[in-house]
Amino acid sequence: MRFLGKQSKPRVYVTRALPGDAIERLQRECDVRVWDEDAPPSRETLLEETRNAEGLLCLLTDNVDAGLLEAAVHLRVISTMAVGYDHIDIDAATARGVLVTHTPGVLTETTADFAFALLLAAARRLPEGDRAVREGRWTAWQPTFLVGQDVYGATLGIVGLGAIGAAVAKRARGFAMRVLYCGPARNEPLEEELGLEYTNFEGLLARADFVSVHARLTPETRHLFNEDAFRRMKPTAVFVNTARGAIVDEGALLRALENRVIAAAAIDVTETEPLAKTDMLLRLPNLLVTPHIASASVATRTRMAGLAVDNVLDALAGRRPGHPVNPQVLNVK
Ligand code: GLV
Repeated sequence: MRFLGKQSKPRVYVTRALPGDAIERLQRECDVRVWDEDAPPSRETLLEETRNAEGLLCLLTDNVDAGLLEAAVHLRVISTMAVGYDHIDIDAATARGVLVTHTPGVLTETTADFAFALLLAAARRLPEGDRAVREGRWTAWQPTFLVGQDVYGATLGIVGLGAIGAAVAKRARGFAMRVLYCGPARNEPLEEELGLEYTNFEGLLARADFVSVHARLTPETRHLFNEDAFRRMKPTAVFVNTARGAIVDEGALLRALENRVIAAAAIDVTETEPLAKTDMLLRLPNLLVTPHIASASVATRTRMAGLAVDNVLDALAGRRPGHPVNPQVLNVK
């Protein structure tokens, strides 16, 4: 850990080294402490470091719960370098008048690119092909060797049509896909613009060749993909998740892939991260898993860090940050 800056400035704790000039910019205006290791700080460290901090710049790996908020009595802003904020107890923060901010928008296209990359890779069995070549199992061109699912002209089901879901739908048009979507909010202008069809969850599962999840993790979406959901999908279906691991019951996913209830899955997120090397999911040839890197391009991660810093600086200077999660806190002040 390093200590940077002078005492008279607002104190900010940053839970990891950040790309670009993010820390330097923060340091100009704040008294900054940075957790410099690759693994997240422990609960004890987080408690200790936020006890006197006015600002916390954290990542999705940091659990900011009611207990931490109770101890961090000086805290005014929590800025997460993520679009998802399910790792923060928003109600507890709001009750204590602590502003929470996040970094939407800047990662939309990068994440959509990655979701599509997963979809294509799982459909056309890229990881299996790569393994086959490396393991000397490419013996001859064969009519039925590693045959997969066509993407062009297929039906895509998008679960949660927020910014990222919409960006995936735009990409699907280039593949002449029919695009269905479901979710709490219907978006008729976008339906019109992109030729989308709104349906319910069950209808989407029954008709989609590809199901891609772009919903937030909430009590309503936790384990939305359970045994029953996978059973409703086509046996040729490919499931893609770049949202949050806990939207899927991983036991149910394991059984669905093992018993070929669905054809394949490609996931960038798991219920417990990192996924243990011994996890049963890793034995499945029809599962592609990546280590939560959908937003991981150099430019996007730099933009996310910059935005997270802007949010802290704005909040501590009494300005309205661009991306408040609980703006009601601002109205009270
Ligand atoms: C990544 O998962 C994010 O929420 O930004």
